[in-house]
Amino acid sequence: MIIDGKQIARKLRQTIANQVVLLERKPGLAVILVGSDPASAVYVRNKGIACKEAGFYSEEINKPADISQAALLSEIERLNNDDKVDGILVQLPLPQHLDANLVIEAIHPAKDVDGFHSENIGKLMQNNAFLRPCTPKGVMTMLKTIGVDLVGKNCVVVGTSNIVGRPMAMELLNARATVTICNSKTQDLPSKLKQADIVVVAVGIAKMIQGDWIKADAIVIDVGINKLDNGRLVGDVDFESAQKVASWITPVPGGVGPMTIATLLENTLTAYEARKEK
Ligand code: GUN
Repeated sequence: MIIDGKQIARKLRQTIANQVVLLERKPGLAVILVGSDPASAVYVRNKGIACKEAGFYSEEINKPADISQAALLSEIERLNNDDKVDGILVQLPLPQHLDANLVIEAIHPAKDVDGFHSENIGKLMQNNAFLRPCTPKGVMTMLKTIGVDLVGKNCVVVGTSNIVGRPMAMELLNARATVTICNSKTQDLPSKLKQADIVVVAVGIAKMIQGDWIKADAIVIDVGINKLDNGRLVGDVDFESAQKVASWITPVPGGVGPMTIATLLENTLTAYEARKEK
């Protein structure tokens, strides 16, 4: 069966919107876009639209591609001290001359709605999470929605990025699954995948994972978004062949993608509530 990420995300956004109308002030999200990469610009615009629909205060900050590190850090510092802003997100990737690690570390951990700051990643690793990276958290919401019990299950994560693979493995570990972390160069990847009850793929290689690598009735979560030469968007999994083998599978587009933005709103609400308590 197909996991309808669009619908799960829509429901989550509606639940959040219902909570927001009851609050004293709007939760606020600031998104910084450096340069004009077209894909990043689309993501940032969609984040802004989702914010407004959910009743959030939203700020989109566009900076030129040649902004200095110091100027970007001072913009973040301004947002750290702005009480209207509960969440700060710097769209990645950043231009080469900027140090993404330094930029992420400059965001106050209480406003780090991407969950990328070392303090938030550290808490996730200690199974004491506060703000959790949106895409892996969104995947956990999907798995919960289809009613999977993860305890003791064999999970294989393919991909080791800071944004998806690593925090995804931690999420599954925290849910008491048995987790194997692979990358695109893992020797005999098909034999690893054959063991997996749940497969999460985030490597950025179009249709890399074939249906006959997958165990019968496995759950397949495809985080990849790759644009083919003909303009078509496909995942890291060969959907046609994998769909025949899997019990559940996410489509691309319309699977994990919509969950990321809905989860960003969820994190911004979490940051708002935590700041209010202080
Ligand atoms: N670029 C791709 N995914 C993400 C994400 O989740 N957050 C940020 N900030 N940039 C991204």
